[in-house]
Amino acid sequence: MSDAVTYERRDGIGVITVNNPPVNALGQAVRQGLKECLDQGLADGEARALVVTGGGNTFPAGADIREFGKPPQEPSLPDVIDAYESSDKLVVAAIHGTALGGGLEVALGCDYRVAVESAAVGVPEVKLGLLPGAGGTQRLPRLAGVQNALEMITGGNQVKAPKARDMGIIDAIVGADLVDEAVAYANKLVSEAAPRRPIRDMEASAESDSVFDDFEKGLQKKARGFLAPFHCVKAVRAAVDLPFREGLKRERELFQELMDSPQSKAQRHVFFAEREVGKVPGIGKDTPKREIKSVGVVGAGTMGGGIAMNFLNAGIPVIIKEVKQEALDKGLSVIRKNYESTAKKGRISMDDVDKRMGLIMPTLDYDDFKDVDLVIEAVFESMDVKQDVFETLDRVCKPGAILATNTSTLDVNRIASFTGRPEDVMGMHFFSPANVMKLLENVRGDKTSDEVVATVMDLSKRIGKVGVCVGVCDGFVGNRMLHKRQAEAVALVDEGASPEQVDKVIYDFGFPMGPFAMSDLAGLDIGYSIRLERRKAGDPDAQELTWLDKLAEKGRYGQKTQAGVYRYEEGDRTPKPDPEVAELIEQHRRDKGITPREVSDQEILERCMYVMVNEGSKILEEGIAARALDVDIVWIYGYGFPVYRGGTMFWADQVGLGEIRDRVRQFYQDQGGEQWKPSPLLEQLASEGKGFHDAK
Ligand code: 3HC
Ligand code: NAI
Repeated sequence: MSDAVTYERRDGIGVITVNNPPVNALGQAVRQGLKECLDQGLADGEARALVVTGGGNTFPAGADIREFGKPPQEPSLPDVIDAYESSDKLVVAAIHGTALGGGLEVALGCDYRVAVESAAVGVPEVKLGLLPGAGGTQRLPRLAGVQNALEMITGGNQVKAPKARDMGIIDAIVGADLVDEAVAYANKLVSEAAPRRPIRDMEASAESDSVFDDFEKGLQKKARGFLAPFHCVKAVRAAVDLPFREGLKRERELFQELMDSPQSKAQRHVFFAEREVGKVPGIGKDTPKREIKSVGVVGAGTMGGGIAMNFLNAGIPVIIKEVKQEALDKGLSVIRKNYESTAKKGRISMDDVDKRMGLIMPTLDYDDFKDVDLVIEAVFESMDVKQDVFETLDRVCKPGAILATNTSTLDVNRIASFTGRPEDVMGMHFFSPANVMKLLENVRGDKTSDEVVATVMDLSKRIGKVGVCVGVCDGFVGNRMLHKRQAEAVALVDEGASPEQVDKVIYDFGFPMGPFAMSDLAGLDIGYSIRLERRKAGDPDAQELTWLDKLAEKGRYGQKTQAGVYRYEEGDRTPKPDPEVAELIEQHRRDKGITPREVSDQEILERCMYVMVNEGSKILEEGIAARALDVDIVWIYGYGFPVYRGGTMFWADQVGLGEIRDRVRQFYQDQGGEQWKPSPLLEQLASEGKGFHDAK
């Protein structure tokens, strides 16, 4: 017998403990052990009842995701759970940590469930593109009601033990000595001759006739494009419509369909990528990290204020500097307003608002930075201004302080060269709004030390961000690829597509909005001024005005002026097509001597997406991103790439690199341009029949 699960007797109760760190995942050895220990407990004449629990930090947190997609190994989890539910001795689940997915399903195979107060339960399978496939969709509605079950199963969120008790999932909250308390609880049940309580014998009845239809309607918008949430609803419906055994069969069919779907493959990839992305190749776990106990922020504008909030939220004090008192006051009042509006929505208390505001110290004086452990600069995007700031920071900050820049377009190596300590300089590229967006591109300069990279990656997690380590280049990973897509989108409109058509194709692919709705949100003036700079610098690609530039020149900056690529009505962010824009585009085509043609949706999709894949491939070749998964995470967390497609490079692998290479070659032949020059890595992988995720 393996030691993944152990059996012992305590005070007349057989205790079955799962020992499979870190999360007691229910891999084959655990399932086998659970079955064997159950048999042992049933055969143990001195055990009056049984308790099942998790060793270490948690009750099992689910099936072992690493086994998915591999040939199944006996015993299956549903069979193990069936054996527990059929046991002729009472079984009590003793829960601490997180009883998730298959873990909660094991607990639902028991007669009673007790938990410590800090425990949580949940069925997060939907986040992996799956549904609870070991009876969860049949037992949960029987125990907690259809509405609760639908919410938990389609949402995948954790429910804290006290709430789970109110929902009927947990029978009792017990003290911290979990196993002792569970043993006492089991003894009490036995002494009271409490009945066995298999959930399969309970009835699942819907709260109302329309509960499933209503629920599905709500999901149409919330879960647009996802397959799993809708399968979850179907499975729960089966719990109401079918007898238990048939319901289980239906659950299995639906589970298998999801398991075989590209969506679940993609979502499982994202699960692991999200955990892998924090491990920077070449930087070991033992790399020393610096302590970050206080932070300075230079600039209290759009980004500076948002950046500061991340640290305040994590309880880290911030000193924020501006040039003028007026700008400082304005910056602080925006931060307070943001917090107050969160408090109004009930997500934090007014006390939290005061606590967070109490951690921020405004200043006009650089000398106040002399003791901080990290400074993040978020001043105007101009190399001259950055030079002045970094020379000053170098003078005033203590040795060992990390000096970071939030620049989105400037050369981080050049910025580092303004200091006498380039090894301590790094980019921390937040996305707007900086207090909301989860992505943080941590830009490693040529001279940045491993210690600084490790510290900043670690800090990203502390402030609730997903940090991705990237190298120095124009636009880093995200914006560099975005700019290629944007240029292609503009060219497609030149050739005859409408902005609405391009946006619809990208929206239907699963992005939250198309490229032009996004330009209107960001402000057309921003792209315009970047292109003006490029034009001045002699960039041959920026010499001609695009139709977007012409809109910006007319003062159509996007949502903020209620007119951009689209028009907007007061207080409404819905983009509406504008005949004035259509006219401007037609005139632009005439000026360029273009006869518009019909552009197919397929061409739009291929050109917008493949140009990004080609660029992503160049990014990998150059080592700007270490792995394809880093690019995937940038796109998922920075730009809303649909999770169910796994990120740009994962999606490309699923399409097939041979197919993409052929189209890229074709576009290069037809229209030329550096952006379509096939990346050698793409060529190589395609010829070897491999994908980006096989490369490293
Ligand atoms: N299977 C395999 N590995 C898992 C795992 C699982 N279910 N859950 C976590 N791990 C691994 C992680 O990959 C990570 O590995 P690493 O150290 O090599 O990177 C390690 O365990 C620790 O995980 P975290 O870094 O995520 O640790 P946290 O403490 O932050 O979070 C957690 C713990 C809340 C349990 C989180 O890991 C989690 O949400 N896990 C997934 C839970 C889940 O989805 N369960 C359902 C699985 S599907 C299922 O049960 C199907 C069934 O219905 C048939
Ligand atoms: P902003 O114009 O809103 O704010 C800049 C602030 O810096 C102003 O309040 C200004 O008074 C202040 N400032 C200028 N010089 C200063 C100095 N020497 N000391 C203290 N304060 C000074 O600009 P925004 O949008 O916040 O951008 C800041 C930086 O963040 C830029 O480098 C930009 O490229 C980058 N960025 C911007 C994003 C965006 O979406 N706005 C996204 C990601 C990065």
